[in-house]
Amino acid sequence: MPNSKFITLNDLQRDAEIAAYLRAANAQMKAIGFTEHGERHAALVAQIARNILAFLNRSEREAELAALAGYLHDAGNLIHREFHQLTGALLARDVLARMEMPFDELTLVMGAIGNHEESDGNPVSAIAAAVIIADKADVHASRVQNEDKLTYDIHDRVNLAARRSFVRVDAAQKSIALELEIDPTISSMADYFEIFTSRMLMCRRAAQFLGCQFSLIINGQRVL
Ligand SMILES: [Fe+2]
Ligand SMILES: [Fe+2]
Repeated sequence: MPNSKFITLNDLQRDAEIAAYLRAANAQMKAIGFTEHGERHAALVAQIARNILAFLNRSEREAELAALAGYLHDAGNLIHREFHQLTGALLARDVLARMEMPFDELTLVMGAIGNHEESDGNPVSAIAAAVIIADKADVHASRVQNEDKLTYDIHDRVNLAARRSFVRVDAAQKSIALELEIDPTISSMADYFEIFTSRMLMCRRAAQFLGCQFSLIINGQRVL
């Protein structure tokens, strides 16, 4: 009998195995000096991804699948940072199959997780495109978990300087904008461009897949 349960983000957030995966993924990221990649990042990316598709008037189910992929996208970091998009897709398969998710939904979620990194990802579906934009939009001071200020790297500085980030979707204008408010005394615009250029180009491709123009607005100025 085919799987047939319509899993929601709520189901994932109550699952002990997933909670353990996200804790372990973040512990490993913290150990190698990376920014927060745990439940906070997962929940935020899930909600932003869901909102992007909802605001573009996609079906409710498609928006929920984007939330599920967003929640699980970085779980592969519990194994290793490298190839975490691929290991994460396979981890998600096991969990979601156990939860009896329909196979045609499962494949969409796996494809979205497998394509979320700018090194090799592509917006292969609306769900993948939404997760890409949501993931790159999570830039915030609360992600910095390095306790030694002397060893702050460019990622720490860029996140620390970000007071606010917001994805504005306008279906009528066919536009998706990432709005950032940054403190220029903490991180320079040059830092932002160093980190953001490849990410923003990926967001642009993702927005195009969704039939939208992408823009990056920093402190009220459109920079892309
Ligand atoms: Fe990732
Ligand atoms: Fe991520």
